[in-house]
Amino acid sequence: MRRENARVDRELAMELVRVTEAAALSCARWMGRGDKERADQLAVDAMRACFDTVHIDGVVVIGEGELDEAPMLYIGEKVGAGGIAVDVAVDPVEGTNLVAKGLTGAIAVVAIAPRGHLLHAPDMYMEKIAVGPSAKGCIDITASLTANLKWVARAKGKDVSDLTVVILDRDRHRQMIHECREAGARIKLISDGDVAPAVAAAIDETGVDILLGIGGAPEGVLAAAALKCLGGDMQARLKPSNEQEYARCQAMGLKDPQQVLMLDDLVRGDDVFFAATGITDGELLKGVRYFGKNRAKTHSIALRGETGTVRFIEATHQLDRKPAWYRGDRTGQ
Ligand code: FBP
Repeated sequence: MRRENARVDRELAMELVRVTEAAALSCARWMGRGDKERADQLAVDAMRACFDTVHIDGVVVIGEGELDEAPMLYIGEKVGAGGIAVDVAVDPVEGTNLVAKGLTGAIAVVAIAPRGHLLHAPDMYMEKIAVGPSAKGCIDITASLTANLKWVARAKGKDVSDLTVVILDRDRHRQMIHECREAGARIKLISDGDVAPAVAAAIDETGVDILLGIGGAPEGVLAAAALKCLGGDMQARLKPSNEQEYARCQAMGLKDPQQVLMLDDLVRGDDVFFAATGITDGELLKGVRYFGKNRAKTHSIALRGETGTVRFIEATHQLDRKPAWYRGDRTGQ
């Protein structure tokens, strides 16, 4: 049964964690094995299968690509066992290189919101600045980086030299990194995966204060969903790099494709859910651990925007009692 205009059931938070757990468990054995495609495929298969048990009438708006690029979890695909009409954003492996190389910070991630509430961001670059609740309202993507660092530091009762800024280690960020260093902020350069540090910026114990820089637009919407739940803040600007991308932005209804997107433009309203499970270890979540013959432990976060509840969930899985898609494929036994 399809229900329009109803609020999303709170039980969904746990159902979504099962989805990200399945994706993480299915691909975690491929950590460090140099095959990001295989790891990604296993996670996509598991996530897709697990969605069939979730009580939503979902449409993928952020997914693995268009139908001609991705056989599963493609944009426009319907997922769920029926229920409330929602937009679904997924990234079964956020940080495929991180898994392939066994580096920190890979997560499986999902967000949902009522139909039409998530920005249908095309697969292009997006400039982002993300902070936690204590710096909400203190960022301006159109202002200088130095000014933003000062405002965030002041809001958090810190000096700029106490701030930890996370930036993707890319040539395009050379000027930004230089400016951060000149301002005296601490920098953590990451090789991939900018969703987890954006979420981490809103959780004190992680030690991350700001996520800055240009990364994927789909990842920007996923991060925005988490920041909505956590009371953090984010501003963004799409970075179309050719006429086709420019036209896609306009087709989405953005008259000026480079307009500033506020948190509410990325994720409308507060009826939003976010879940993520660690694949490899990171600041936000621990990665999958195996023990015994058939057991594995996962570490996940489940967020609900309406109430702001933050749940960290540690689960032990008896893999031989789960559907096959939880286990991925096990070579080398
Ligand atoms: P994957 O799609 O391989 O998982 O990569 C994710 C990611 O690192 C994002 O976290 C980030 O937003 C984007 O890619 C950066 O893109 P690029 O590698 O082109 O700079």
